[in-house]
Amino acid sequence: MELADVADDLTEVLLTETQIHDKIAELARRVEQDYAGERPLLVGVLKGAVMVMADVARELKMHVDMDFMAVSSYGASTESSGVVRILKDLDADLEGRHVIIVEDIIDSGLTLAWLRANLESRGPASLEILALLRKPDAAKVDVDVKYFGFDIPNAFVVGYGLDYAERYRNLRGVAVLAPHVYS
Ligand code: IMP
Repeated sequence: MELADVADDLTEVLLTETQIHDKIAELARRVEQDYAGERPLLVGVLKGAVMVMADVARELKMHVDMDFMAVSSYGASTESSGVVRILKDLDADLEGRHVIIVEDIIDSGLTLAWLRANLESRGPASLEILALLRKPDAAKVDVDVKYFGFDIPNAFVVGYGLDYAERYRNLRGVAVLAPHVYS
């Protein structure tokens, strides 16, 4: 699916595939340095983080484990409810592991704050967060994100894993969703 096919649904392309790729390579180099000699466990949050997870994992020149978790977030609406529910838990035991949560976007930060506390309680040796996108409100919540890609404006965005009502996840870039789509 190309961005051109849904051009009427989008107002602006914020990030191209190339920009995302370059940033992920940059973040991967830092992870390789920080975890030299270790075998970190990447925890992806379904479904939005699937693209970030796939690209980060393939960019890393080291052994990593991958696991996934699904939590409820927005449903079909565009506002964070703050209610987090585990829909699918991890298969891996986190005890003594070096864990990196891989996230697509931090908006209110509520999801991540909850997730961090939840995973922290499982006894990992370390726990860090990698998030591709950050919206302005995220700064208000005290979530320590060690690796993050881009600060974006406070708009509802889709693509590269991010959806609106399950659509647009397979766009290669990140774009702002036109208000007529959800109003
Ligand atoms: P938070 O709890 O408000 O930080 O929201 C986190 C989750 O909401 C993300 O993992 C996304 O699944 C979803 N989300 C937040 N902003 C957007 C957006 O602009 N487009 C699509 N999904 C979003």
